[in-house]
Amino acid sequence: MIKQLKKKGLDAPAVPFFYILAGVLSIVVSTVFHKDYSDYIWSILYGLIMVAAGAIFIHTSLRGKYKIWDNLLSKITINPSAKVLDLGTGHGMVLLRFAKRLSDNGHATGIDVWRNADQSDNSLENTQQIIAQQQLSHIADVQTADMVNLPFENKKYDFVVSSLAFHNIKQPAARLVALEEAVRVLADNGSLIIVDTGHHKKEYLDALTSMGLVIIEAKTYGFSGWWTGPWMPTYAIIAKRSHS
Ligand SMILES: C[S@@+](CC[C@H](N)C(=O)[O-])C[C@H]1O[C@@H](n2cnc3c(N)ncnc32)[C@H](O)[C@@H]1O
Repeated sequence: MIKQLKKKGLDAPAVPFFYILAGVLSIVVSTVFHKDYSDYIWSILYGLIMVAAGAIFIHTSLRGKYKIWDNLLSKITINPSAKVLDLGTGHGMVLLRFAKRLSDNGHATGIDVWRNADQSDNSLENTQQIIAQQQLSHIADVQTADMVNLPFENKKYDFVVSSLAFHNIKQPAARLVALEEAVRVLADNGSLIIVDTGHHKKEYLDALTSMGLVIIEAKTYGFSGWWTGPWMPTYAIIAKRSHS
């Protein structure tokens, strides 16, 4: 089962593992060693909350975020000949969703540094294989590149998108550079779509506005986007670059 979960591309796999392990240990230890009924109730409750938080995290990673992207994609118009760049593509969940909507004249590129701490079974070869299995290699490709230093020319892409990758850049200054890079490669009238978690929504909105982008939507999602619970939600920002 763990192997199957890994193969599916579980986000930050250590996090749900830790929550579920801590929860199970708390339940087992308190059941075996409890002396006082009131202590027992609290440690069982703590254990159940930890297990539930881990299960919610796995649900968001394997179902919820897919629903969020399907909802986002149902709201936007994609020209079949569009050029798309997916930042921190991982297993290519967003890349493939765009590629399926493109014609042979369009193209979708995913870049990543392939960190296994951020997504399980994360590698260039694995994602190339997933693209080939979906018979989309003529429309989608992946490359190794860092979001803070994109090897692409200015204004190349009609869509620059990113799913749950920006928060993995821990330094605020580096996150700002990555945002500047995303905007640099965005074509005039192009759309930038950032889905992320953590508590950087205002930081992104302020930075994008100061770079001259128009915010079309900024939405925080409910249960589908909870990473353990409502204190760690998923949000989406759609911003457009006007002609300049
Ligand atoms: C949580 S995973 C999300 C993957 C995918 N976008 C998805 O939603 O399924 C975050 C991804 O961002 C990548 N990443 C982290 N820092 C990066 C950076 N500086 N440049 C490029 N990719 C990065 C990780 O390797 C990982 O694949």
